[in-house]
Amino acid sequence: MQPLVMKLNGQDVTLQIDPSTMLVDVLRDELHLTGTKVGCNEGECGACTVLVDGLAVDSCLFPALKADHREVNTIEGLTSDDELHPLQQTFIEVGAVQCGFCTPGMIMAAKALLDENPSPDEDEIKRAISGTLCRCTGYTKIVAAVRAAAGKGGK
Ligand code: FES
Ligand code: FES
Repeated sequence: MQPLVMKLNGQDVTLQIDPSTMLVDVLRDELHLTGTKVGCNEGECGACTVLVDGLAVDSCLFPALKADHREVNTIEGLTSDDELHPLQQTFIEVGAVQCGFCTPGMIMAAKALLDENPSPDEDEIKRAISGTLCRCTGYTKIVAAVRAAAGKGGK
């Protein structure tokens, strides 16, 4: 076992982990943050997307120890004082959520984009979410939701 220290959704977290553990398993199994989903477990679907130092990563392929002494943000960290993040609001308003399985990863990928580029054009949005697959809505409404969040200043 080895220590892992992270700033997770703004809170300092320290735990002991098996060094071979992937970040998604630490988040879901050790810390019970099950908002981050596991689809393929092979880096193909983006359901497990979280931010490490602001960059979107597939947490199913990201060794947890690589997050040591870094900032990790998950979908759970977006809601503050019970208020939804603008991206969460616009996904609901625009109808960009159906089964919801892809939604946490999609929103985290979009957040990484808006943090870096608050006014992305459609191509930039499509590129940013291209690693995240949605089997339900198609992408038109998802892109519209990200645009609407950008319009609200939603990073
Ligand atoms: S579960 Fe990580 S990319 Fe599919
Ligand atoms: S809403 Fe079902 S996979 Fe995207």
